[in-house]
Amino acid sequence: MARPSGKSNLKKRKKTAGSFTRRAFLKGIGLGSGALGASLLAAGAAPAVAPPAPSPGTTLGPGAFPLTLNVNGQSKTVRVEPRVTLLDVLRDRIDLTGTKKICDRGECGGCTVLLDGRPAFACMMLAVDARGRAITTIEGIAPRGGLHPVQQAFIDKDALQCGFCTPGFVVASKALLDRNPRPSLDQVREALGGHLCRCGTYPRIFEAVLAAAGHVPASKS
Ligand code: FES
Ligand code: FES
Repeated sequence: MARPSGKSNLKKRKKTAGSFTRRAFLKGIGLGSGALGASLLAAGAAPAVAPPAPSPGTTLGPGAFPLTLNVNGQSKTVRVEPRVTLLDVLRDRIDLTGTKKICDRGECGGCTVLLDGRPAFACMMLAVDARGRAITTIEGIAPRGGLHPVQQAFIDKDALQCGFCTPGFVVASKALLDRNPRPSLDQVREALGGHLCRCGTYPRIFEAVLAAAGHVPASKS
């Protein structure tokens, strides 16, 4: 039997590669964008947030449509296209810039918000998928005019340098203490495993979370 020519081999390879699209890949592993973000967060050992099921018979987009979100206990309506992430809506449309855009690809945790009390990466979630959820940002974790105990402990322990990663760490730490008020150091490390601090302030961050949990004195060390 004659061997296929190099040219026809190349054609075959192109066809195979072309038929394996990103869409097919995501379908194959059963992940949409929201679930992908949740899974990456789970890999960082924080609880995953499942995307809500779409309402039957609802078509949104492709153009902008009115979207109402519950942010820090307030109802906010914006006009957005379905492709816009929750992070971009929070920062660019609602002016809540405490939630940071650092990697914008689910790798650093700087964009962490709470969805129904559980941490989620806002850069990996479409805003439309946050409909009907209680969204809490760094601006909403403390009583008006006050500080959350985790925020106070970060100040007391000098747990930041540039501070860019801090909101994500604080929000994730608050979520940890809400579900486990007295975590061990290992549990703190595990809960913050999906977060990066490029300044390397990890020891002080862990100490601050333990201080907020009452393990160590909260005064400046
Ligand atoms: S900005 Fe979202 S994980 Fe880095
Ligand atoms: S304090 Fe600078 S990145 Fe964490």
